[in-house]
Amino acid sequence: MDLRAILKDEIEKVAKKLGYNTDRLVVSFSNVPLLCDFQTNYAMTTAKEYNKKPFDFAQEIVDKLKVDGFEFSVAMPGFINVKVSDGVLANYANYVLKDKDFGVEKVASPRNIIMDYGGANVAKALHVGHLRSPIIGEALKRLYRFMGDSVVADTHLGDWGLQMGLTILQLKLDGYLDEFFKAGAKLDAIELKNITLETLNEEYPKASSRKDVDEEFKKQADDFTLYIQQKKEPYYTIYKKIRHLSVEEIKKNYATLNATFDYWYGESDADEYIEPTIQLFIDKGLTRESEGALVVDIAREGEHIPIPKKSEDEEQRYKNPMPPAIIKKYNGAVLYATTDIATIAMRNKMDKYDEIIYIVDNRQEQHFTQVFRCSKLAGISPENQKLTYIAFGTMNGKDGKPFKTRSGGVVRLSEVIDMLVSKAAEKLKSNGIENNFEVARRIGVGAMKFGDLSNIVSKDYVFDLDKFLSFDGKTGPYIQYTIARINSILSKAQNEGKEINIYSSEIRDIVYAVMKLNSAYAVCYKDYSLNLLCSSAFDLAKAFSTLYNNHKILSEEDDKKRDSLLAVCSLVKRVLSNALYVLGIDTVDKM
Ligand code: ARG
Repeated sequence: MDLRAILKDEIEKVAKKLGYNTDRLVVSFSNVPLLCDFQTNYAMTTAKEYNKKPFDFAQEIVDKLKVDGFEFSVAMPGFINVKVSDGVLANYANYVLKDKDFGVEKVASPRNIIMDYGGANVAKALHVGHLRSPIIGEALKRLYRFMGDSVVADTHLGDWGLQMGLTILQLKLDGYLDEFFKAGAKLDAIELKNITLETLNEEYPKASSRKDVDEEFKKQADDFTLYIQQKKEPYYTIYKKIRHLSVEEIKKNYATLNATFDYWYGESDADEYIEPTIQLFIDKGLTRESEGALVVDIAREGEHIPIPKKSEDEEQRYKNPMPPAIIKKYNGAVLYATTDIATIAMRNKMDKYDEIIYIVDNRQEQHFTQVFRCSKLAGISPENQKLTYIAFGTMNGKDGKPFKTRSGGVVRLSEVIDMLVSKAAEKLKSNGIENNFEVARRIGVGAMKFGDLSNIVSKDYVFDLDKFLSFDGKTGPYIQYTIARINSILSKAQNEGKEINIYSSEIRDIVYAVMKLNSAYAVCYKDYSLNLLCSSAFDLAKAFSTLYNNHKILSEEDDKKRDSLLAVCSLVKRVLSNALYVLGIDTVDKM
């Protein structure tokens, strides 16, 4: 039940009867709530087509509009304003209270999609750059499922690239792998005794900086990478053991963040698709050789960017913004783009997906343009399959630079999580709740997720944990607190309330806020966004707090009013809990 859709239908009927075009008819929530609940600027966009003044055009329609429970009026220069009666709003509220989907309508044509988020790299520590992807990805997945899509999530671990060769080379040079390289060694039986995550976190950065200054070392790392990709021993067994060690840690971190995946595939799982994929490009005549590497040209005509002239009479030159995609290196090893294209081939073998959605930071724009164009060129992604790259901005510290913890350097994801939980625990302690790790985790992680998702996905934002954790303000904990408060009221009342009656402006405001929150789902669904859901949930929580301050709920003596107040509590609790669930945030009973 969507009151705006009902209104639109009614206005459309009248306008059509009068012979008017209704293409530009949109009914929106009012931005002057004192005046009306809904409005449309239809007359302003359409009257001139009929040489009429918007005001007169609007009046003509309003004169013919008769809908029970709605009051229409015209405001300068031609707005049609609508007020809805308390009775209609109460009906709506009672419907939402009972509906299993809280009154939110499913999409008309559900999609079958696969989502690619998380994207942690094996052998490298997860860092804050890997924090936003699982937060945004998980929330979008839950949103799409709630709206009726079939969605699977695949984390696409980075496990087939140069970092593996670099790490194993460094470990070998530092003497960690001697046993594996002994003649006749029984590889499977050897344990990675002295290698822990800490070791990996030290060895990889060491190798990574050395490769930039040491040609010979870099070449050797390239070779090691190739040996792994060729499954040559002992490289491959070492690789598998290191992968296992890392993946355990990654799983633990993602579980703490409530990020869940149907598939824990990595780049390496597309291995069997790599050769046939490269062959397909060759067979279709899409490749050429360049300095020993195999490349695919994907630039499109007219994409040239003018290079600024040094002097007036210099001839205008252009550069191409889209360099060729390298799908095979000089030494035969494959790269990030190759595994991504092969992964599309693999996914399309697994199922028929309408859309593949990637949630990756905004520095990978060129990579995804290359991967998408290559996949379309070779027909690996069918024409009617949508490939979507959702590029998110950077999480910055208060200094405006990418966020770092006190220890500096790359921030480990586990460090951030520890920080969230311990800060939340401190706050809880001041509220008299001690030593409850799970509650602290829910609040700390919820604070961060809400702080993140309140922003426009593509924008950078400042990670300000003290602000995010505030118990009053536009924060996750504020909404968790609202639900906890309602839990306490409902359990004291031992009664959930039966029927909502709108007998006060506070109740009316709450129902209106519920309606706005419900309409936010469709907007977010369409835009691949979550910020409107966050702000609407907050507005509802705020409206509840006004009700709570102005009404005595438990001690209300009028039975009908008391029942209505309790039903409002149940309504707010249900609707807010669902919004938090979709955002990937847990609720708590008490805080
Ligand atoms: N592992 C990559 C990185 O850390 C992210 C993977 C994103 N997904 C993808 N299909 N490329 O940058």
